[in-house]
Amino acid sequence: MIQDIEKILFSTEELDACVSRIAGQIDKDYAGKTPIMIGILQGSFVFLADLVRKMELPIQVEFMSASSYGSGTESTGSVNIRLDSSVDLKGKDVILVEDILDSGNTLSRLVPLLKDRQVNSLEVCVLLDKPSRRVREVEVAYRGYSIPDAFVVGYGLDYDQKYRNLPYIGILKPEVYENDLD
Ligand code: IMP
Ligand code: MG
Repeated sequence: MIQDIEKILFSTEELDACVSRIAGQIDKDYAGKTPIMIGILQGSFVFLADLVRKMELPIQVEFMSASSYGSGTESTGSVNIRLDSSVDLKGKDVILVEDILDSGNTLSRLVPLLKDRQVNSLEVCVLLDKPSRRVREVEVAYRGYSIPDAFVVGYGLDYDQKYRNLPYIGILKPEVYENDLD
C-alpha cells in the first residue's frame, strides 16, 4: 500500500491534533446538549470513531450511506441514499460527519433531506475540504484541513475501496488510478 502513496499529507500525529481541536470546538458549542453524530459511510468511520472518543459530551451515533462515486476519482453528480438513519431526528441537534467535501454533491443532497425532518439544528463537520472542486455550495461548521486538488487516501478514505486502513492521509500516485482507466 505504501508504495502507492506519493506523499504523506497528514501524519497520524497531525490528524490526532486536528481531531482533538474539532472535538474541543464541538464540546464547547454543544455544551448541555446531546448531539446526534451522523457519520456518512464508509469514509467517515475512522474520523468519527476518533472524534467521538475525544469528546466529553454525551452523544448518539448514527450512520447514513450515500454514493455518487463508482470506482473512479470523479463524482458523478447523482447521489443515491443507500442507507438512511432510522431514528426520529425531530427536535435533535444533528452533526453530519463526512471524511471529505469535494464537489459538494453528497452533502448538498443530505443536508436538506435531514433538515426536512424538523431537526432543532444541523451542522456539517468535515475532516478535509477541497474547495477548488466545489460544484454545489455547502455550509461547513467544522473543518479539519483545506487541501489542494489531489486524490487522497487513508484514515477512512479509499480509492476503489482500498487504502482505508492507512493510519495517515496520503496523496495517491496518479498512475494507480490512471492505470485503471485503460
Ligand atoms: P462530493 O459529493 O463530490 O463532495 O464527494 C464526497 C465524497 O467523495 C466523499 O465522501 C468521498 O467518499 C469521495 N471523495 C472525494 N474526494 C476524495 C479523495 O480525494 N479521496 C477519496 N475519496 C474522495
Ligand atoms: Mg465517501
